[in-house]
Amino acid sequence: MARRIFIFDTTLRDGEQSPGISLNVREKVEIAEQLARLEVDVIEAGFPVSSPGDFEAVKAIAKNVKGPVICSLARADRNDIDWAWEAIMYAERPRIHTFLSTSPYHMKYQLKKTPRQIIEMTRDAVSYAKKYVESVEFSAMDATRSDPKFLYQVYAAAIKAGATTINVPDTVGYALPDEFEELVRGIMENVPGIEDVTVSVHCHNDLGLAVANSLAAAAVGASQIECAVNGLGERAGNASLEEVVMLINTRKDRVELFTGVNTREIFQTSRLVSMLTGYPVQPNKAIVGENAFAHESGIHQDGILKERATYEIMRPEDVGLVESEIYLGKHSGRHALKAKLEEMGFYLDDKGLERAFIRFKELADKKKEVTVKDIEAIAMDEIRTLEELFQLEYMQSSSGSGAIPIAAVILSREGKRYEATATGDGQVDAVCKAIQKATKVKGKLISYQVQAITKGLDSMGDVTIKLDIENHEVVGRGVSPDIIEASARAYINAINRAVQKGVLEKKKLARKAKREKIAKKVAKK
Ligand code: KIV
Ligand code: ZN
Repeated sequence: MARRIFIFDTTLRDGEQSPGISLNVREKVEIAEQLARLEVDVIEAGFPVSSPGDFEAVKAIAKNVKGPVICSLARADRNDIDWAWEAIMYAERPRIHTFLSTSPYHMKYQLKKTPRQIIEMTRDAVSYAKKYVESVEFSAMDATRSDPKFLYQVYAAAIKAGATTINVPDTVGYALPDEFEELVRGIMENVPGIEDVTVSVHCHNDLGLAVANSLAAAAVGASQIECAVNGLGERAGNASLEEVVMLINTRKDRVELFTGVNTREIFQTSRLVSMLTGYPVQPNKAIVGENAFAHESGIHQDGILKERATYEIMRPEDVGLVESEIYLGKHSGRHALKAKLEEMGFYLDDKGLERAFIRFKELADKKKEVTVKDIEAIAMDEIRTLEELFQLEYMQSSSGSGAIPIAAVILSREGKRYEATATGDGQVDAVCKAIQKATKVKGKLISYQVQAITKGLDSMGDVTIKLDIENHEVVGRGVSPDIIEASARAYINAINRAVQKGVLEKKKLARKAKREKIAKKVAKK
């Protein structure tokens, strides 16, 4: 009989640890709500002790998102666990996930602890978390490079202290499928009490084996797979949620497993995560890439026309991929836009809706056909924009053969206006320099990418910019029918993410400390 696999989504925790990603509270809640519609079993909402922003986001998710278990990460440390609990105490179904390294590398060089101390810390962390909540997960970090016999003892201690899930992470993505299978089988056979808890796996993709390793472990009894949308995560990422789910779904004949995921929400979830994180999905990515269901060669097209099963192992509609119909025109009003947005799962506040409506009208004037993708892009741009951060109010730019490119911008932030003009090597350069002047934030450009949202020359441009601001990588994204405006929006979005991360505060504090040091020196003289 087929066995259920629980899907534990870590997009908002491990996924958010990908370089350059920094989601604000509103974006995280938006993603968590979509994950609930996707019907994942567990949402790992964040690591509350890591920053005030993470704490607030986990708390907001715990308060607002219903359905899945909401999980909060903590090191095996009482203070971390207190913060984790403070953040998720409002959840309908809360879980604390605590972790500790068990490999010789980590114990010796990073933690400087003996194996005996690790066992003691495991016991203490799990029983401390257990005082707050029934559902406690324990992870032995770097499990795949740990001594299996030692791992058995650590997991046994965690279970005895009350852990309800024990997780086996391949933290550095080092394991091979047969090795990982052997490790998990060994745990299933040798850890006392294992039959009473959920065995979970958490695989990283450094060697491209995260999904294969997760499936190998599930075959020998693991019943929870940790994964992230679009395979986001530290370094090469985590096992991709859409691949794990569709692999189980498509090959149920062989794997004899199933999940509770609503696969028809996969495509929308992938797009939302990509738009809000600024991480584009590669066109040939399995399941959610633009080409995943495209058939280019004549032979394939011929086969598909005769019988879809000739070259298609999954139906695009099963992952929610539907042709984007045209459904709004320039005569559509606010109510029609609001209703369509809500139908697509976007709930904007009044101000956001008003801004989206103005942009929709401008677009409808320029384009004959406004598609689902256009509306989705505008909605996502609005979700990215927060009142307390810089907003683009106006911009103008001009150039021409032999002319010096020049741009003017007006930005606002909490009711204040910021204006500047600048010249540059091109129009994009000029507008970015004007924004730097207006915000007084300097960013070094690392990469710049532009993509068309729809087909045709009248498509909106979707710009992704990666900046280095005060030695922190931040990614910004912006859309507009005008590429220069899309670039300006992306640049402002990157600056706003740096503001949210507190990068500029750190700079101010460093300057203040330097000034005080100089003042002390002068006073001594
Ligand atoms: O990769 C890892 O080991 C982790 C743990 C916190 C589970 O992300
Ligand atoms: Zn991880």
